[in-house]
Amino acid sequence: MRPPPALALAALCLLALPAAAAAAYFGLTGREVLTPFPGLGTAAPAQGGAHLKQCDLLKLSRRQKQLCRREPGLAETLQDAAHLSLLECQFQFRHERWNCSLEGRTGLLKRGFKETAFLYAVSAAALTHTLARACSAGRMERCTCDDSPGLESRQAWQWGVCGDNLKYSTKFLNNFLGPKRGSKDLRARADAHNTHVGIKAVKSGLRTTCKCHGVSGSCAVRTCWKQLSPFRDTGQVLKLRYDSAVKVSSASNEALGRLELWAPARPGSPSKGPAPRPGDLVYMEDSPSFCRPSKYSPGTGGRVCSREASCSSLCCGRGYDTQSRLTAFSCHCQVQWCCYVECQQCVREELVYTCKH
Ligand SMILES: *[C@@H]1O[C@H](CO)[C@@H](O)[C@H](O)[C@H]1NC(C)=O
Repeated sequence: MRPPPALALAALCLLALPAAAAAAYFGLTGREVLTPFPGLGTAAPAQGGAHLKQCDLLKLSRRQKQLCRREPGLAETLQDAAHLSLLECQFQFRHERWNCSLEGRTGLLKRGFKETAFLYAVSAAALTHTLARACSAGRMERCTCDDSPGLESRQAWQWGVCGDNLKYSTKFLNNFLGPKRGSKDLRARADAHNTHVGIKAVKSGLRTTCKCHGVSGSCAVRTCWKQLSPFRDTGQVLKLRYDSAVKVSSASNEALGRLELWAPARPGSPSKGPAPRPGDLVYMEDSPSFCRPSKYSPGTGGRVCSREASCSSLCCGRGYDTQSRLTAFSCHCQVQWCCYVECQQCVREELVYTCKH
């Protein structure tokens, strides 16, 4: 039995690295709940049949495994996407009580919090982005260059420059995540919606970039290609969507035979609230505070905070510890004849604040 598309994506959110590799990348402890892939992190890029083995080690549905085996380069791309989404999530939530820690990820993905919504969106966005990049870099066999037919009419000349291939990426992803079906389940609908928000965020960041060639900048010849925006920008967009996420409750539309998402009715109002816009992240449950360790997060004890800005909210009123730390920096720098700068090493004391447990 194939899991619904959204569940398949949940598997991707969990798609994890060998603990050792993760630790090297993110400064994790290595004790996080990760799917163990023995030896995968240190593996060289797939050669020969190596990708088949990589596909088997990934946490994928049967159908996805088949697609993975058919497409050399995909296993690596999936891992890259998992990296990218984790890094971006942790960056965007570095000042929040929930800091996108891997601890509790499994619990979060089963619920309908705003954080769940963000995880679905950022995972889908990272996969779209990484696939498009892998495609244009020639790391995938089955993808062709985006030929951008719309450009032809506007440019006198156009060389077949291979841009970031989003068209291929989106098509593949839709197939990879499974054909869309009307689901009776609100959770599945919301997950699919949030997944789509992620894919669209990458799409709307696509820019056409052109470069002029010709005698003294005459632009007699122009080369154009499509370029994805840096993933940091996409992460930023999704974080803003998280901040303004829309709460939905179930409301079935029997006539259409599928479940639609609606905001709950305002108190005292008989009608249901407005439907979320296509770009809105949607959630169903209010989030826990993330203050204390729970099955969703390790809590905020031990988190470094800024005394002026974040300690009071981050530490949830438990207060913070202050430690002084000596850090070295360059000082008394002088330009020497000729031509370098000589500096001394100075040491200064810095105060570090961490939330009490
Ligand atoms: C998130 O917070 C936990 C503890 O609250 C901490 O151990 C972990 O290092 C933090 N992760 C990141 C990526 O900052």
